[in-house]
Amino acid sequence: MKIKLCIVVGARPNFIKAAPIITAIKKFRKDHKDLNYFLIHTGQHYDENMSDVFFKEMGIPEPQYQLNIGSGNHGKQTGEMIGLIEEILLKENPDMLISIGDTNSTLAGAVAASKLHIPIAHIEAGLRLFNKHIPEEVNRLLTDHLSSLLFVPTKLAKENLVREGMKPSTILQYGDIMYDATLQFDKIAEKKSKILKDLDLEKEGFILVTVHRAENTAHIDHLKIILDSFVELSAQHKVVMPIHPRTKNLLKEHGLLEEYAKHIQVVDPLGYMDMLVMEKNAKLIVTDSGGVQKEAFFQETPCVTLFENTAWVELVELGWNTIVPPISTKLITKSILKVLKKKTKGKKGSPYGKGDSAELMLGKIVAFLSHPKF
Ligand code: UD1
Ligand code: UDP
Repeated sequence: MKIKLCIVVGARPNFIKAAPIITAIKKFRKDHKDLNYFLIHTGQHYDENMSDVFFKEMGIPEPQYQLNIGSGNHGKQTGEMIGLIEEILLKENPDMLISIGDTNSTLAGAVAASKLHIPIAHIEAGLRLFNKHIPEEVNRLLTDHLSSLLFVPTKLAKENLVREGMKPSTILQYGDIMYDATLQFDKIAEKKSKILKDLDLEKEGFILVTVHRAENTAHIDHLKIILDSFVELSAQHKVVMPIHPRTKNLLKEHGLLEEYAKHIQVVDPLGYMDMLVMEKNAKLIVTDSGGVQKEAFFQETPCVTLFENTAWVELVELGWNTIVPPISTKLITKSILKVLKKKTKGKKGSPYGKGDSAELMLGKIVAFLSHPKF
């Protein structure tokens, strides 16, 4: 039976999560040439170091469709994506659309497919922050409710979907796709990356920080609360920040980039290989990124998350992640220093599967399409 899949990506975390699925498809195709796929890149992220680098490093083929949407207000950005994806779906008529994560590109793919009655598989379904002001919460929730296959990374994500009335047989817990990616690329990264040397860093000699979430970067006052804490820390610790373009733009707009860069080692966004090596070798990670919180755990580096809560509660329960709402510089600094002083890093645990989630998901997708009454 011939099967054609469409995968939609657009933003940095989409590319990273798509890579293991594409690896699984390539492997499957060795014996099953009747499985085909095509890739749509919405162009939500477009800088070389926010997009192309991941395609090159992770062996993701050139997308068949590049929509070049670019930045903009969420409604316009998502709406334009939907229109263009719809045109492609009408032409290609795939059997299933795969949407990944929680970005505007994730939602756009799901909405376009649902209008054409093309079944959707959502990878990284079910996570909830219980706050609909957060754009990612809305994207994930709506995508979940449009999807026929809900691939949840955790037990809690599964429970959330059951509570929301989703059919239990459509909820599939095969592990976390980012764990697959880390296992697939960790050794390669260690061999290839020269980032510690390039940035003149010692192993465990620096704190790695990333800040980009809308809630922390919409207003300069919020961002200052966080960065002022990094300045305080820099008196005792080297602080390295690969800067997201959104954060950089805000600092530049307020003429503050150079001032902060006197204390914090600000570098351009890193490729995935360099990022894995930085995460592994940092003494602590401080972040508001969903993905980086998890990678900190995969790399056995303690993490402080600057957000009101997290969907990855297992990390908090195991003691690897400490949630600090970024409401005051004093609180952030105090909390980070406390985590740094802790002797134990966290408890062992494997809440994210075995690193084979992409193959399991693909197997289920093929079974679903081969037996449509599933
Ligand atoms: C998006 C996702 C967020 C994810 C993040 C990963 C949504 C709603 N948000 O947020 O979930 O955590 O990606 O990084 O989908 N910009 C550039 N160059 C680029 C990309 C962005 O300069 O290549 C700048 C633009 O000024 C843009 C801003 O960054 O306006 C924000 O980009 P956008 O894609 O809207 O949201 P992110 O904050 O990146
Ligand atoms: N990442 C990267 N380079 C960077 C910062 C992050 O490769 O400079 C990777 C990181 O390793 C993780 C993913 O980007 O795999 C996380 O994406 P991001 O923080 O942009 O978004 P989120 O996970 O919060 O949606």
